[in-house]
Amino acid sequence: MHPPVDPDDLTVALEKAARLIRQANRLAVLTGAGISAESGLATFRGAGGLWEGHAVEDVATPMAFERDPGLVWRFYNARRASLRTARPNLGHEALVRLEERFGDGRFALITQNVDGLHRAAGSRRVLELHGSLARVRCTGCGIIEDRGQEELAELPHCTPCGALLRPDIVWFHEMLPHDVWTAAADAVAKCQCLMVVGTSAIVYPAAGLIAAADFVDARVIEVNLERTAASQHANVHLLGPSGQILPRLLRML
Ligand code: OAD
Repeated sequence: MHPPVDPDDLTVALEKAARLIRQANRLAVLTGAGISAESGLATFRGAGGLWEGHAVEDVATPMAFERDPGLVWRFYNARRASLRTARPNLGHEALVRLEERFGDGRFALITQNVDGLHRAAGSRRVLELHGSLARVRCTGCGIIEDRGQEELAELPHCTPCGALLRPDIVWFHEMLPHDVWTAAADAVAKCQCLMVVGTSAIVYPAAGLIAAADFVDARVIEVNLERTAASQHANVHLLGPSGQILPRLLRML
């Protein structure tokens, strides 16, 4: 259980955060699974952090896929299925408004999420660090396809070449897509304010962006239900659900 948040403290923190955003010429936002929690999607490390008795780190690796592709596909097919009913929430929508407010070149939305809900909400430029649940990649010919919300076979194979498909997700022990990572690092290096929303900030290199903001002396605003590994870098903590905090913050700008 977390101690209740004093509403006065939250108002003061929101005012401070709004001031930091107004003062920033460039704003970057890093999101994690928490922003989609109010859309009904489970976070990775919530509720014991286990899936069918496996730690996420054990199903989201190339070794796990080699050992038992059926298990890994069951995990990802279940996550794809949960997307069919998930809709963006008020937190995603607030970030769309923020992008419109800052305009091209002054706003970057960097996400660790693979659920596509930022785009579904209307965010135009989204840097997806960990890939996308909608896409599959062939382990043989390397072709990448967007399969949207289509129901896939238990062990899907590539139509052109017949080899096994894998989710187009960045797994533990794999490199992030170079162009996406470079754009994200660049956006943080140039921002005056980084907002970190709904992430436990323990998975690298994504979490390293928060320390990088500190390094360039950007202000850091954290939005989360609780304190996290990011908190040591944060100038302001907005404790509460992002679907409530972000719209409130937006109204104060
Ligand atoms: P986690 O599950 O580790 O953390 C979710 C965070 O969201 C926690 O800090 C929660 O306190 C917070 N949270 C939950 N509900 C919230 C709400 N309504 N509003 C605000 N915050 C809320 O998820 P990530 O940090 O995104 O990687 O995990 C990072 C990466 O680890 C994922 O991208 C994934 C995973 O393994 C890959 O798949 C490669």
